Amino acid sequence: MKKVFIFDTTLRDGEQTPRVTLEPQEKLRIAKQLEEMGVDIIEAGFPIASPGDVEAVTIISKEIKNSIVCGLARSVKKDIDIAWSALQYAKRPRIHVFIATSDIHMKYKLRKTKEEVLMQAVEAVKYAKSLCEDIEFSAEDATRSDPEFLREVFLRVIEAGATVINVPDTVGYCVPSEFGNLIAQIRNYIPEEIILSVHCHNDLGLATANSLIGVLNGANQVEVAVNGLGERAGNAAIEEVVMAIKTRKDIFNAYTDIKTEHIMNLSRLVSGLTGIPVQPNKAIVGINAFAHEAGIHQDGILKERSTYEIMNPKDIGLDSSEIVLGKHSGRHALNERLKQLGYVLSEEELTKVFEKFKILADRKREILDRDLISLLEEKPVELPVYRLVNMEVITKINNSSYAKVDIEKAEERFHGESDGDGPIEALFNAIENAINMHFDLIDFSLKSVTMGKDALGEALVKLKKDGEVYSGRGTSKNILEASVIAYINAINRALA
Ligand code: KIV
Ligand code: ZN
Repeated sequence: MKKVFIFDTTLRDGEQTPRVTLEPQEKLRIAKQLEEMGVDIIEAGFPIASPGDVEAVTIISKEIKNSIVCGLARSVKKDIDIAWSALQYAKRPRIHVFIATSDIHMKYKLRKTKEEVLMQAVEAVKYAKSLCEDIEFSAEDATRSDPEFLREVFLRVIEAGATVINVPDTVGYCVPSEFGNLIAQIRNYIPEEIILSVHCHNDLGLATANSLIGVLNGANQVEVAVNGLGERAGNAAIEEVVMAIKTRKDIFNAYTDIKTEHIMNLSRLVSGLTGIPVQPNKAIVGINAFAHEAGIHQDGILKERSTYEIMNPKDIGLDSSEIVLGKHSGRHALNERLKQLGYVLSEEELTKVFEKFKILADRKREILDRDLISLLEEKPVELPVYRLVNMEVITKINNSSYAKVDIEKAEERFHGESDGDGPIEALFNAIENAINMHFDLIDFSLKSVTMGKDALGEALVKLKKDGEVYSGRGTSKNILEASVIAYINAINRALA
C-alpha cells in the first residue's frame, strides 16, 4: 500500500478564509494538535504576509519536532529570506515557493512572459535550496496552465532542487476526470522519488473528489485544511480525504499516518478559534454526520450499525452515533431511548406513548429526554414559543439607542429594556433581558424583498448557544420589527 503524505494548510490557506485571523499562540495550539494527530507537514504560514505570521512560523518551528514545518514564499528572494528566518529553527523545515504558470495569471497578474516566469521559478528554487534541503514548488493555477509549459517548469525546478511538486487547482476549476489525467501525465514525466502533491480548492464542491482522483493517479501528498477552510470556498477537508482513504482502502490501496480519533477534537478546536461554525450536514464532522432521524434507519442502526453507517463514529473520536427522536422516528428507537431512561413498557403502553410522541413530534423539532418523561408522567410538555407583543425604540444621532420590548409565551408576558450601540443592538439586548438568557449573535443581515418606499424588509439572524447555531427569519415593512421577529424565531428554535 502506498503512503499518502498529509500536508495540512489550515494555518496558511485555511487562515485565508475570509474574515479569519489567528493569533500566533492560537496557531501553535492548532499545530500541536496537528502534530499529535500525525500530520506529516504543517504549513504554518506565509511569513512575508505579516509580522504575526513570522512570529507564528517561528514559534511553531521551535516547538514542533515530528512534523515537517513549512512556510510559503513567492518566488522572490525577500519572501524566501523571511520564510527561512522563521523556519530555520525547525527540526524538519520546508520552504514552499510558488509562482503562477497559467496564461491568465502570467499576462494579467504577473505581466511576465513564459520565459521570465520559468527563469524566476528556477532561480527561486535554487536560492531556497541553498538554505534548506526540503523544497516544495507550486505552479499556481496549474490546472489552467498550458500542460507543455507546466512540464517544462516542473522538470526545470526539479533540476534546480525541488523535492516536492505541487499541482494546485487554485480556482477549483477542474472536474475529477481531467484532474486525474493531468496528475497521471505529471507522474509519468517526473522522477519517482519526487513527491507529487495535489492542492484542490472547492469552488465547485469538488476539492475532495479531485484530491482523491489525484491519489488514484499517482499523487502521494494531499494538501488539506481542517473543516475544509481556505481561500473562498476553501480547500479539500482533511477529515474527508483521510476518512475516504481509510474507509475505501479497497479502492485507494493507500494509507495515511493520521490518528483519526483526533479528528473531532481538532475540528472543534479550529471551529472555536476561527469562529467558523461547521455546517450540521458537513461530512465526517457535522453534528448530523452520525445522527439518524428516520424510523427505518434508526431501526436498522439499532439492529446492526453497518446498515446505515459506513464509518465507526469512534474512529473520528465520537462516543457513538446519535439517534435523534423527531417526527420521523419509529417505535423501536423510542422504546430503546425509554429503556435507557429506565422505563420498561408493555407493548400496549408503548403504543399509547408512541401515539402521544408522534403528536408532539409534529410540533417540536426534537424530542428530548425531559419531553419523554413528561409524556410518560402525563404532564403537558412545555413548548417555549415566544411571540413579539410590542416594541419601542429611541435612537439618537450618535447611535446611542434605548429599546423596550414586550414578549409573550403562552399566557405569560415578559418585559425587557436595554440600551445599545444602535437600535438593533438595543432591541436584541432588551429581548435577552426580558427572557433572562444570553445568545451569541454570529450573523445578522437585512435586505428588502419588495420594491418601493413601503418595501418589505427581511431579516436573517444566526445565534449560537452551547456550541449550536440557530437561525431565524422575520419579515415586516418595519425593518426593526423584522429584525426582532427574526431574533425571537431563532431563540424559539434554540429552545425547542
Ligand atoms: O491555491 C493555490 O494555488 C495556493 C498555492 C500558493 C499553493 O494556495
Ligand atoms: Zn490554495
